[in-house]
Amino acid sequence: MKFTIIYDNRTYQEGWETGWGFSCLADNGKETVLFDTGDNPHKIVNNFIKSGKDIKKIAAITFSHKHWDHVDGLKGILNINKTARIYIPSSFPKKITSLVKENGNEIIYTGEKVKKIEDGIFITPAFDKFFTPAEQGLILETEIGLALITGCAHPGILNMVKKTNELFNRKVMMISGGFHLSAKTAGKVRRIIRKLKEEGVRYFSPSHCTGKKAIDNFKRECSENYIETGSGKSLNLDKLK
Ligand SMILES: [Fe+2]
Ligand SMILES: [Fe+2]
Repeated sequence: MKFTIIYDNRTYQEGWETGWGFSCLADNGKETVLFDTGDNPHKIVNNFIKSGKDIKKIAAITFSHKHWDHVDGLKGILNINKTARIYIPSSFPKKITSLVKENGNEIIYTGEKVKKIEDGIFITPAFDKFFTPAEQGLILETEIGLALITGCAHPGILNMVKKTNELFNRKVMMISGGFHLSAKTAGKVRRIIRKLKEEGVRYFSPSHCTGKKAIDNFKRECSENYIETGSGKSLNLDKLK
């Protein structure tokens, strides 16, 4: 199981587009699944061209939540891909469902249970049913545990990890994406990192809305298990021990 950060606030590989947003492409060796589409239709397509991945071949597209910086790039992808299945919560705004329907892609509504998208690739239900915005996580399965990819982690990264451990009855061993910690004090961030480790998380790859100071904290607290990321970062999860 591999994934590539197609779009992020920061660049990992020189020359890749950046902006306030997030997008990640999971690849199980047979099919690719896109999670979030960033904030800009042109930039995400440019980054896809750099990645060498084929937009036409994306089997499915799903989202963390409805915020603009995770959905506004969708149009660029749909201009090229008319066949990917689109997995969205029924609470998603009409501007997105209409765009998908007009394009001809199938919509599959995510609900209150975990949904398998492709082998080893799942979308969780929304964490905390009544929390707004409804946010779900992408789960990638590996032999040594689960990877949880988050868009903004508005329901709380620690909460999302705990709930995922329960939902799958398997441990999240890696987290990657936006953790939304910029308003937290350094002490609070350190406590969250400690509790994440107690829950079984071993690899940490914060990006997007995590906040620069919080990211520096992860770097310090997680040392060799901190994984630097940004637009253009690819990771083979099967190589983690
Ligand atoms: Fe958000
Ligand atoms: Fe965001």
